[in-house]
Formats: sequence, structure tokens, C-alpha cells
Amino acid sequence: MKTISIINLKGGVAKTLTAGSMAHVLAVFHNKRVLLVDNDKQGNTSKAFGVHSYDEKSISDILTARRIDPHEAIKKTRYENIDVMPANMTLIRANLEVMMDSTRPQQTRLRAALDPVAGEYDYCVIDNAPDINISTINALVASDDVVIPIKIDEYAFDGLLELKEQIENTRDDLNPRLRLAGCLITCFQRTDADRQGEEWLKSQPQYPVFETHIRYSEKVTESTFAKTPIVEYSRRSGAAMDYITFVREYLGRGKQ
Ligand SMILES: Nc1ncnc2c1ncn2[C@@H]1O[C@H](COP(=O)(O)OP(=O)(O)O)[C@@H](O)[C@H]1O
Ligand SMILES: [Mg+2]
Repeated sequence: MKTISIINLKGGVAKTLTAGSMAHVLAVFHNKRVLLVDNDKQGNTSKAFGVHSYDEKSISDILTARRIDPHEAIKKTRYENIDVMPANMTLIRANLEVMMDSTRPQQTRLRAALDPVAGEYDYCVIDNAPDINISTINALVASDDVVIPIKIDEYAFDGLLELKEQIENTRDDLNPRLRLAGCLITCFQRTDADRQGEEWLKSQPQYPVFETHIRYSEKVTESTFAKTPIVEYSRRSGAAMDYITFVREYLGRGKQ
């Protein structure tokens, strides 16, 4: 199982759309078995795949409970090849609990929980909160690759350096496998600002950037209301076509 963290310290940059689309394209177009982990208290990924709940186990239990079978916090979806580990607002409390309990390792709990199910999936995609906290650190420790979605605006690159440092620290201290697979420009519009922002990012040697960018599409908002992945909702929209191309590029890079 290869694990990919979708992360950015900023909200509204298409982390959730990217995580869900990537999982969907890997499952449906590439016939991969995918575990999609929701690691954001807002639970948008869980809602999008119809598994948001306060009655059943979630990632909060994975992070706090001592001996938990990870299957208890993994839900089936209507896609045969996509299972979801859901999140909800209890993740706020779970983060505090993990921080207060130093009697056992705090940063490796997600990795330890995912280990027993690694044989059941080809890919694990983790949708993260716009934050560096103990649960996002758990995600980085459990990951092989990081994808940073970036929406170009005047503050688009704020926090990028801090995030890169966090990735490097995690690699040095806890997870030598971790690598920054690349930045992915999302919500791209044909404006001068977007073109210049993309050009600037691609000129920065310290940040790998995917060739593919994801175009802005009005269909995306409709698809989120319909709780249907964009590639299924509107296969011909720019965003859908770009997510398909992006996943192909991602898989191609992995082979090098
Ligand atoms: N390519 C796109 N085209 C149009 N709207 C988009 C696109 N990507 C994201 N959005 C919209 O931007 C908002 C934020 O996306 P979301 O995936 O929830 O970001 P995050 O998880 O980073 O907060 C959502 O309303 C989403 O529908
Ligand atoms: Mg989100």
C-alpha cells in the first residue's frame, strides 16, 4: 500500500476535492483498491462519500483507543474499490487527548493502525486539515508521498516553506520514506495572475510541481452538492479531465 497525504496549511485550496478525485480515479480508472482517510474534523470527505456519522467509529478512535481493530473505523462506500475512514468534530478532542497522553508514542499511531490493513489496499489517500497538529503529523508519519494542492491567489505561497520544513523534519526524525511528490495547481483560470503564479512556482527548484494543473470548472460546485466525484458527475469538465491526467502523471512519476 502506498500512502499519499494531501496537505496544505491553507483552507479552500481543493485538498478535499483532490483527495476524493484522486481516490476515485485510482479506483475507477486504474482499478486500484483505495482507502481514503478523512483527517479533517470538518468531515467533508466523509460527507462526500456518505459515511459521516457520530454513531460509528472514526479516525478519532484510531488515534486514541489502545487496541482497536482498524476495520472498525473503515466504512464501505458505493464504490467497490473505495473504503473510507471517516472523521468528524470529535477529532478536536482526540487531538488534545493524544497530546496529553505521552505514555505511548503520539506521532506513529495512524501508521501503526494502517499497518494491518496495508495488504488490503493498493493506495491510501489522506485528506488533511489546513493545519500542522498531531493528527496531520500522524498523517505525514504514515505517508510515502505528499501532494500539496495550491490555489493561486495573493497569499497562495504563505506557509509553503513551513510545510516543507515540517515534511523534512518528519522525514529526518520519524519517516525516511516520506517525499514531496509535488505541488498541484488547482482552480486554475486563464488569468495573468494564475499564469504568473504557476510560472513562478515552476521556477522554484525547491518545489517540484506537477505539469498538470487542475482547471476551474463550474461543474465542481454542482458535483459537491450532488455528492458525486467530479469525474463521474461531469466527465467532460476541465477539472475532471485534469484530475484524470494528474493521476496518470502521478503514477508515471512513481515508476521513475
Ligand atoms: N477545480 C475547481 N473548480 C471549481 N471549484 C473548485 C475547484 N476546486 C475546488 N473548488 C471549490 O473550492 C472550494 C474548496 O475546495 P475544497 O476541496 O473543499 O478545499 P479544501 O479541502 O482545501 O478546503 C469548494 O467549494 C470546491 O468546490
Ligand atoms: Mg477540506
